[in-house]
Order: sequence, then structure tokens, then C-alpha cells
Amino acid sequence: MEKPGAILGVALLLLLQALDLVNARNEDICRLFSNNTVIRDPESCSQSITCIDSVSYYSRCTGSTPFFDKDAGKCVKSLSTSMSSCSISCDDRTSQFLADPKSCYGYYYCADEETPMYGTCPQDTHFNATTQMCSHQHESDCTTSTFEYCSIVKNSVNFDNLQGCNKYHVCEKGVLKDMTCSKTYYQASTGECVDKALVDCDAHPLPTEVCGKAGKPYENKFVADDVTCRGYFYCAKQKDGTPDPNPMWSQCPQDRFFDAASQMCLAPTAVKCSFDRCDGRTADFVESDTKGCRSYLRCSDGVTVGEYSCGNYFFDEELGACTPSVQTYTACK
Ligand SMILES: *[C@@H]1O[C@H](CO)[C@@H](O)[C@H](O)[C@H]1NC(C)=O
Ligand SMILES: *[C@@H]1O[C@H](CO)[C@@H](O)[C@H](O)[C@H]1NC(C)=O
Repeated sequence: MEKPGAILGVALLLLLQALDLVNARNEDICRLFSNNTVIRDPESCSQSITCIDSVSYYSRCTGSTPFFDKDAGKCVKSLSTSMSSCSISCDDRTSQFLADPKSCYGYYYCADEETPMYGTCPQDTHFNATTQMCSHQHESDCTTSTFEYCSIVKNSVNFDNLQGCNKYHVCEKGVLKDMTCSKTYYQASTGECVDKALVDCDAHPLPTEVCGKAGKPYENKFVADDVTCRGYFYCAKQKDGTPDPNPMWSQCPQDRFFDAASQMCLAPTAVKCSFDRCDGRTADFVESDTKGCRSYLRCSDGVTVGEYSCGNYFFDEELGACTPSVQTYTACK
């Protein structure tokens, strides 16, 4: 039996690392998009990204169609003025290099007044329009600009919003909308709202009044996350006596479930919980919560794939088998 508190330090560290990863520039943008979605590269007006199994595959527009049109999903000669942040003009610039407005390392070479040709500087160098050369990154004052999702994704394509397991985005007429799955979680790989147990996500939405009511807050207390059997929130005591508005989520180690009454992580059979009992389990067969302790679940990759009955026998979780000896686990009382 472990007190969740004992592992809180580690959980905090992991959480901070996770946040760091989300912010990291090199995190693959395709983790947000469903399989085979094509978007414009946020760092180039002339490259597209095809997302395959959450990994980015780049394609470059060349020759007389140097720009990628995210709405048409193909390379075009020029972009409409609504994509003005991608407008590059070679008028009076024949044989010159122009900076790419989307990145520090991209450039266009004007082959003639009509034909900008996209190119990129070698690794660790930036393009400098003044010197017309790629020079070492540390000599450059170029900083990459932020981008708007709706300038790289076409309308009506769902994509993940990492702020919450149930949240996602969609662009409508070029405007970013926040969407929420009702009673389900958003699955980035399929672009759909699906059963919560099928989504591997730690940004669980806070249950209503998770840390108590205004006059009666839970202070320094662990509360169930109401979505999983292992997860809990830690409600810290607030200086002003209000409920913790931002309790931290964490979860019990493998093969342990959270028990609110004892404030501990216990053996799953000792905890009543009707969420997915296969979550975080190492066994292939586990006790179900069906009353009488005569049923068991089959688990695959931490998800329940079926429930079966032992008939007149009882399911013994330790043996992983049906036995004639009576079982009276709390889980299935
Ligand atoms: C994603 O798409 C690729 C290419 O079409 C395909 O090979 C792959 O199996 C797909 N992945 C899934 C999880 O369906
Ligand atoms: C380009 O190079 C010039 C000359 O070395 C320098 O003064 C200027 O700051 C550079 N521009 C950028 C954007 O780095």
C-alpha cells in the first residue's frame, strides 16, 4: 500500500516534464491530427505536411507552383490575398533572394519576375536578406513568428486541443473554434469523440466542485478523478480558504487503484470502482465490479475487451481463474 503523497514528488516532476515537452518547438505537430491529414507547414508557405500515424512527412512545392494551398491541398502558382502572410513578390527582384516570412531558414530565389523558388538554408544557419546569404544562427537576429492554426489547416478538419482530454479544435470560415466531446474523449488519431477508456490522455477535465464547495473546501486531500480507477486529484489548502481551483492530477502505480476513503493506493480488489478496471493492469484477466464476484474482464493493452462469467464459480484475481471457493472482494460486493 502506498500513500499517493509519497509519489506526489515524482508525479510533479513528470508533470513538469510533460508540460515542457508540449512547449518544445520540435514536438511533432502531427500528434494533433488524424491519420492522413494534410496541412501547410507552419514554418513555410511552400511546404505541406502529411500526418501519418502522428508523424510529419514533408513535401515541397517547386517550379511554377511554389506555394502550398491548404484549402485546395495542392501546390499553386500564387495564393489568394487572404493568405497575405504568405505573399512573396518577385517584381523587380529577378535573380535575387527573398526571406521566407514563415521561418528564419527559408528563402525564395526569384528565377524571374513571376517565379519564386523555395529553398532552405543548411542546418543551424539562417537566411539574411541583406547579405543574401545563409549565415550562422548565432549571428542572426531573426526570430520565428507564432502561427495561427487556421492558416495551416483547412476548414472543418478536427484537431486535438491539448488543454483537455475532451477538447478539440476546428476551423470554421478560418476562425478557430473550441469544441468539447460530450461524455467522451477526443481521439486525435481518428479525429473523433470516443469512449474515454480508449484515449491515453492525462489532461482530465476537473469534475464539478472537485475540491469541495466555496464554504467547505477539501484541504490537502486526494479525490478521485471520476474517470479512471487509478487517477486522483490533489486538492491543496489555499491561503484564502477557497477550494483549490487547479488541483493536480496523478495516478496510482500499476496494479493499484485509488481509494478515497483511506486516501491510499490499494490492490484493485479492495476498491469499488466501475471505470475501466483493466487500466494500468499487468494481468490479462481481472475481477469485474459485477456484484457477486463471479465475473471477470479480459484486458488488452490496458483496456477492457470483454466480460465473462465463471458460472457458479467465483473469480479469484490472484489465481486469475474461476474457483469454487467463495470470493468477497470489496470490488464486487
Ligand atoms: C495511417 O495511414 C497510413 C497510410 O495511409 C496507413 O498505412 C496506416 O496503417 C494508417 N494507420 C492507422 C492506425 O490506421
Ligand atoms: C544580416 O546581416 C547584417 C550584416 O551582417 C546584420 O547587420 C543584420 O542584423 C542581419 N540581419 C538579420 C535579420 O539577422
